[in-house]
Amino acid sequence: MSLIDTLQWRYATKKYDTTKKVDEADVQKIVEAARLAPTSSGLQQFRVLVITNQEIKEKLVDVSFGQEIVKDCSHLLVFASWDKYTEERIDSAFDFATDVRELPRGRFNSYTDKLKSIYLPQSQEENFIHTAKQAYIGMAMSIAQAAELKIDATPMEGFENDKLDEILGLKIKGLSSVLMLPIGYRDEGNDWNASLNKVRIPTEEFVLEIK
Ligand SMILES: Cc1cc2nc3c(=O)[nH]c(=O)nc-3n(C[C@H](O)[C@H](O)[C@H](O)COP(=O)(O)O)c2cc1C
Repeated sequence: MSLIDTLQWRYATKKYDTTKKVDEADVQKIVEAARLAPTSSGLQQFRVLVITNQEIKEKLVDVSFGQEIVKDCSHLLVFASWDKYTEERIDSAFDFATDVRELPRGRFNSYTDKLKSIYLPQSQEENFIHTAKQAYIGMAMSIAQAAELKIDATPMEGFENDKLDEILGLKIKGLSSVLMLPIGYRDEGNDWNASLNKVRIPTEEFVLEIK
């Protein structure tokens, strides 16, 4: 199936079949797609939590405005981003990159100095707005990879971030939640959204050509 056909096939699943579990090798591919996502300056400002603990999934329904997909899905992915930029985070990402590329550490000092001069004077909130954007790119990659494997997924930002962070102990890790992505298999007969047409504005309206 082409990527476009795959994207036509997928939809934001509202009801999961609780009896079907996603194979671990497929879960790894879905996470790998997020790991391979491009990020601003290559800093990889987000992490993915893979939750299978049923007790925790059930607890998370309450902080997700009662959305039961959180507990009914096979695996619950949580995308969480750096709560703020720090000198250490920027340096360590670039030290890692130069090591992987067998370049001398400090090779990109003028660039990292520039990044620090932009991000470090900003408020924590401004920093998080930027780091959170990176998580959205990763989630999009995961959704596409899941769909290619005929695995359903529901992008979610309908939850109380602070409460979720507390339940998952994210603060101490210097992370804040951005998105959730339940994955699993649709319960077609009970999902009101499964048979509805995909709604997208026409291409002519979507694309603005500047010639
Ligand atoms: C960032 C984001 C947040 C979303 N949050 C939720 C959510 O909390 N619960 C939900 O059921 N759907 C959520 N959705 C699903 C959208 O409503 C859905 O993707 C949109 O209506 C388009 O439909 P489709 O994905 O089925 O093509 C979210 C989608 C995105 C991209």
